[in-house]
Amino acid sequence: MNTALVILAAGMGTRMNSDLPKVLHEIAGAPLLIHAMKSGAALDPEKQVIVTGHGADLVTRAAQGWDDRAEVVLQEEQLGTAHAVLQARAALADFDGDVIVLYGDTPFIQPETIAHMVEARQHHDVVVLGFEAADPGRYGRLILQGDRLEKIVEFKDTTDQERAITLCNSGVVAANSKILFALLDKVGNDNSAGEYYLTDIIGLARSEGLSATAVTCDEAETLGVNSRAELAAAEAAFQARARADALANGVTLTAPETVFFAHDTVIGRDTVIEPNVMFGPDATVESGARIRAFSHLEGCHVSRGATVGPFARLRPGAELAEDVHIGNFVEIKNAVLDAGAKVNHLSYIGDAHIGEKSNIGAGTITCNYDGVMKHKTEIGANAFIGSNTMLVAPVRVGNRAMTGSGSVITADVEDDALAIARGTQVNKPGLAAKLREILKAKKAKRDKEAG
Ligand code: UD1
Ligand code: CA
Repeated sequence: MNTALVILAAGMGTRMNSDLPKVLHEIAGAPLLIHAMKSGAALDPEKQVIVTGHGADLVTRAAQGWDDRAEVVLQEEQLGTAHAVLQARAALADFDGDVIVLYGDTPFIQPETIAHMVEARQHHDVVVLGFEAADPGRYGRLILQGDRLEKIVEFKDTTDQERAITLCNSGVVAANSKILFALLDKVGNDNSAGEYYLTDIIGLARSEGLSATAVTCDEAETLGVNSRAELAAAEAAFQARARADALANGVTLTAPETVFFAHDTVIGRDTVIEPNVMFGPDATVESGARIRAFSHLEGCHVSRGATVGPFARLRPGAELAEDVHIGNFVEIKNAVLDAGAKVNHLSYIGDAHIGEKSNIGAGTITCNYDGVMKHKTEIGANAFIGSNTMLVAPVRVGNRAMTGSGSVITADVEDDALAIARGTQVNKPGLAAKLREILKAKKAKRDKEAG
């Protein structure tokens, strides 16, 4: 079955109290909108139409930055959810199949749940995703007769009897595109909010002899974000699930509640993650690695047996081969470290390639930026970079080469050479003792003058 996603993302999100459109606020390093797009992506949709309004330019950039096939339509005035879906009509003119409507501010709908809805579509014309609400509050209520959905009543329009219903509308709807748009054409705004309600299509479908049903999911999936407090609660919910998944997948988390994952973090089995580790987007850690306390990793790949931290930072493009050791207060950016390389203390390695088993001494810095351009540092295999070496890129240090501590390396060093680039040491016999006497005499004089 062909499917198309329509994601509603035009709302202002007033309660976020923000200049940023609501759907661009992030959970686990990705905008809410991207979470919604990911939920639907498992269906491999033929079309994805994002309905934007407030902050349309920013929303468009985010949507197409994630998937350049996403189409964006503008809902100039937010006249209601039915009106919002209608804005996708032209974009779906040539599409024939199921349309799934999702909300851009509802990030946790599981792909399996959407798959259940698509299955249910085989027996019903319109399928709505419902949930049993612990506190039904202001949600729309689903009015069922057996397994048939008769109508949805918006909270503002409920009778006392209907308010007692706890089966609520999540907002997710699946229907054949032609049927959906035909029903939407008939939706009016004669209700207490004066809005065009998407939910009205159920009553309309029934009155035309079409069938509708509800598929249900856990309430946690339907969690929507309307305020900063709800954003924080959604982040907490995401992290709780990500930690539980990591533990179930054979990852040791010493203190799970202190580890934060991104939406796309991949961690192999038998990896140990110590307390207070944070993953930004696009980090992969292979089996059996150890990530020590207080490290921050993003856009990086850590291979088997490698150790990182404590207090290490891996930035985008950090590629650590097997058994690499990255120690405390080390930052790695856009650099490939071959197997067994070690950078154990207080270093910055950026725009670099470090060969197998090379040892980078404490305080080494790749001086990769001249204020205008970035340049590359290449270090061969089995090299030994002395402590506090400045590697002024572009520069190459050969295989098995060494640099003297404190060197400022500005020229290439050939294989097997030792480079020393620092002031030559001069020892002056007895001068320390003499200098000390002079200083003591000066101090005595000053103290006497001060009384
Ligand atoms: C909607 C449902 C309600 C359901 C609830 C679940 C309707 C009429 N009501 O109510 O049954 O229980 O969601 O959270 O559908 N949007 C637009 N353009 C618009 C209006 C809304 O893009 O013109 C977007 C919003 O940005 C939001 C989503 O659609 O992401 C839902 O709209 P919202 O106004 O929050 O609907 P609710 O009143 O919560
Ligand atoms: Ca809402």
